[in-house]
Amino acid sequence: MVEPHNKTIELHTENLVLKPLGLKYLETVNEYALDYENTKYMCRLPNMNTEETVEFLKIVDEEWGKDEPAFYEFAVLYHGRQIGAVSVYFEDKIGELGWIINRNFWGKGFATEAAKVVITHFSKQGFRHFIAHCDTENTASRRVMEKLGMTRTGIHGGRKNRSAETESFEYQYELIV
Ligand SMILES: CC(C)(COP(=O)(O)OP(=O)(O)OC[C@H]1O[C@@H](n2cnc3c(N)ncnc32)[C@H](O)[C@@H]1OP(=O)(O)O)[C@@H](O)C(=O)NCCC(=O)NCCS
Repeated sequence: MVEPHNKTIELHTENLVLKPLGLKYLETVNEYALDYENTKYMCRLPNMNTEETVEFLKIVDEEWGKDEPAFYEFAVLYHGRQIGAVSVYFEDKIGELGWIINRNFWGKGFATEAAKVVITHFSKQGFRHFIAHCDTENTASRRVMEKLGMTRTGIHGGRKNRSAETESFEYQYELIV
């Protein structure tokens, strides 16, 4: 069987479908990427304007087009609507996980459900080591890591969330599958 091109990857869970993120999701990505509440614990967000989102999504599209992407940004779809993203960035075969869900859809287990299927997908391809970081104040993200079975392996200072005026601390969690 011919291996499907990366851009056709589709992962399914009970409630969600994950597809390659890209420019076609600009409007729904902006709903959370430009929102302070939705991004206050994030290093690369919020975006200042839609142009910043466009630039990011173009890079994401381009990466999906490569034979061996260095990172994967998945759109998380719920009833066909894009409600967030889960990402994995690889370095030395270690996958750094990330997630964001539109705040109108928080607290329904969606980040955990989406991250789980991403981990399963890449573990089947031989990637066994995953890592994630979150601000020590970001209880929701920390809970996602714990629900994924990840173990806390560090706490570091020097985190600078984009909208914060001061540096903060972050937890590091890891998972070997
Ligand atoms: C982190 C995030 C993706 C989680 O998405 P989600 O779909 O709501 O996550 P889940 O529903 O799978 O799990 C969230 C858990 O955090 C808990 N939680 C959420 N806010 C909380 C709070 N303020 N205090 C305590 N627990 C909290 C929920 O109760 C749930 O845990 P439980 O299942 O044990 O009850 C979402 O909050 C988000 O988009 N945050 C902004 C972006 C971000 O910070 N991303 C991570 C950067 S490191």
